[in-house]
Amino acid sequence: MIGRAPLSLAVLISGRGSNMIAIAQACATGSINASIEQVISDLSAAPGIAAARDLGLVTQVTARAASADREAFEAELTRALAERAHDFIVLAGFMRILSPQFVTRYAGRMLNIHPSLLPHYRGLHTHRRVLAAGEREHGASVHFVTPELDAGPIVLQARVRVEPHDTERTLMARVQASEHVIYPKVIGWIAEGRVVLRDGVVWFDGALVEDLRAAAAM
Ligand code: GRF
Repeated sequence: MIGRAPLSLAVLISGRGSNMIAIAQACATGSINASIEQVISDLSAAPGIAAARDLGLVTQVTARAASADREAFEAELTRALAERAHDFIVLAGFMRILSPQFVTRYAGRMLNIHPSLLPHYRGLHTHRRVLAAGEREHGASVHFVTPELDAGPIVLQARVRVEPHDTERTLMARVQASEHVIYPKVIGWIAEGRVVLRDGVVWFDGALVEDLRAAAAM
C-alpha cells in the first residue's frame, strides 16, 4: 500500500515555541506523519525562533513594524507562507489576531491551541482568570481557526485539575505539558485523514466529534 505523503506544516509562533518543539519532536520520531516546512515568528526575539533554528528548521521572521497596519502585515505573512508548500497552518502561541479575510483563505487548514477549556475563558490571561474564579478544572483546547477569536470548532481538549496550592505559574506549566500531548496528537490524526472540518463541524473517523463527546460524557 502506498502511504500518505507527510502533512506539511507552517508553524506560527511569537514566544517560547514549546508547542512547536513538541510538534517537531513528534515529526522527527515518526509518531506523526507530518513535517514542519517553516516556522514563522512576528518577533525576531522570540526564543522559539532560536529553538527552531537549533532543530534545523527553516525559520522566518515577519516583523510587524510599529507603523504597518494589519493589512500590510498579513500581505507580508502571505508572501512568507507562499515560499514553502504547506497543507496546514499551525498557530502555536502566535500573538496576533488575524483578519477574517486571512483566516477564511485557510478555512479548514488552520489550527490553534488555546489554554482553556473553550468555550470558557477565551482571550488572554486564562490561568490567572481561572484561579481568580476559583475553578476546580482548567485545560487546553485544540480548535480549527475561524474568524471569531478562540471560537472555532474544537477537536480535542485536555483537562487539568486546579490544585489548592496552584499559582499562575504552576497551573500554566501543567496546562502546557498537556498541550504538548494534544497538539501533536491532533496533527497526527489530520495527517492520517481521521480528522477533517466539513460543513463547519469536526468529523473524527466519519463521526461528528460533538456526538462522540456527548456519548463519552454519558
Ligand atoms: C500556549 O500556552 C498556548 O496555549 C497559547 O500560547 C502558549 C504558547 O506557548 N496559545 P509556546 O510558545 O508554545 O511555549
